Amino acid sequence: MDLVIKNGTIVTATESYRADIGVEGETITLIGRDLSGDEVIDATGMLVMPGGVDPHTHMELPFMGTVSADDFRSGTIAAACGGTTTIIDFAIQGKGQTLREALDIWLKKAAGKACIDYGMHIAIGAMDDERMAEMGDMVKLGVPSFKVFMAYKGSLMVDDEALFRALLRAKEIGALIAVHAENGDVLHYLINKHVAEGKKEPIWHALSHPPEAEAEATHRAVVMAGMTGASLYVVHMTAAEALEALKAGRAKGFKVYGETCPQYLMFTMDKYEEPDFEGAKYVMSPPLRAKGNPEALWRGLAGGDLQAVGTDHCPFNFIGQKDMGKDDFSKIPNGMPSVETRLPLLYHFGVNEGRFSVNRFVELVATGPARLFGLLPRKGTISIGADADLVIWDPDKKHRLTKENLHMNVDYSPYADVTVKGYPALVLQRGRVIVRNNQFVGEAGAGQFLKRNPIHL
Ligand code: URP
Ligand code: ZN
Ligand code: ZN
Repeated sequence: MDLVIKNGTIVTATESYRADIGVEGETITLIGRDLSGDEVIDATGMLVMPGGVDPHTHMELPFMGTVSADDFRSGTIAAACGGTTTIIDFAIQGKGQTLREALDIWLKKAAGKACIDYGMHIAIGAMDDERMAEMGDMVKLGVPSFKVFMAYKGSLMVDDEALFRALLRAKEIGALIAVHAENGDVLHYLINKHVAEGKKEPIWHALSHPPEAEAEATHRAVVMAGMTGASLYVVHMTAAEALEALKAGRAKGFKVYGETCPQYLMFTMDKYEEPDFEGAKYVMSPPLRAKGNPEALWRGLAGGDLQAVGTDHCPFNFIGQKDMGKDDFSKIPNGMPSVETRLPLLYHFGVNEGRFSVNRFVELVATGPARLFGLLPRKGTISIGADADLVIWDPDKKHRLTKENLHMNVDYSPYADVTVKGYPALVLQRGRVIVRNNQFVGEAGAGQFLKRNPIHL
């Protein structure tokens, strides 16, 4: 055995038990008692969990006149330091581009820079007959998930016909359709109206993106998933009424799944009224919601109505990027840093605060996303034959989530006041230690592109 992780408590999505893990090369090859190997990591007092799988990141995304501040190097180092060993990012199909061209552009951005393993979704910009045919080619290349933006009219938004066509094709080829569910026409009207009326402070971002617009679009996408029999994943859900629309579809037996993100669990929309333009730090779409919504989302995670926690990591600096919208909320780049803090926040506020078990935590941050996106059993669990992507988690380690204590390439931390208990002590990717005591010690650029399996949920 090349490596043995001894004396820890293995935690998977279904069970917790004391055993050692044996690793040969990059793979878990043995789980048992009293194993020995060339190298030994003593995990006494630690939880040994699968590395996190974040199905929703935007590294170096060109968006709203600027580019998200983390590239594939800084963003994946940050992810690793927070316990995430796999991300799935979004290649965006630009005007006149084929899906293949879009994929190649994003693969080029990631190659040689990504420090953890990564997959790609493709965000569809147009869905003509040729693109529908091309979706099948993408599945063969290991890209079995596509994103449809129902919002951002004038840039990323596509119409309902494109969504419907994508769902029909996805059903045929074993793919999953992810949607940003907000009614883009309603948002477009409200944004223009508020700006014309001189209502330009960050709070008007939230008031231009009402929860009803999220619920309506979620309902529309869920109904189309039901009509086509396709699998649908609703990203970054924020609102209780949108969650009701998802639940109604699930009750009818539709294959519809939902994600929320830590920011929607941690904050409410009063953040937008912070003085000195501080509210801009929380401008993202959908926006933060009124009190009551985070509680509904927590219940959804605990009870099974939501199946995954992603981050929608899309950071923009406060100085030089967010301030592009100093005089007009509609020009504030939408997005927040999140990739590094997902596991610590979910563990602290989910497990420590008794909202769900540590096994449910693993399901939400690793196994669930891996299952939904065609990565199980290689990623997202601890089993023989799986990649040795492991987090040695110190349940007693306290960590304050200040900018200085984090690695994301952005000039603020939304969680600077928060101290969590429970943090990675060591992180391994494919059998190699890549993080030790909050320092990235892996090899820059060693992340591999993951060809994912077709998705049949
Ligand atoms: O505000 C957000 N969410 N920015 C990233 C792009 C998206 O909508 O996912
Ligand atoms: Zn979105
Ligand atoms: Zn996103």
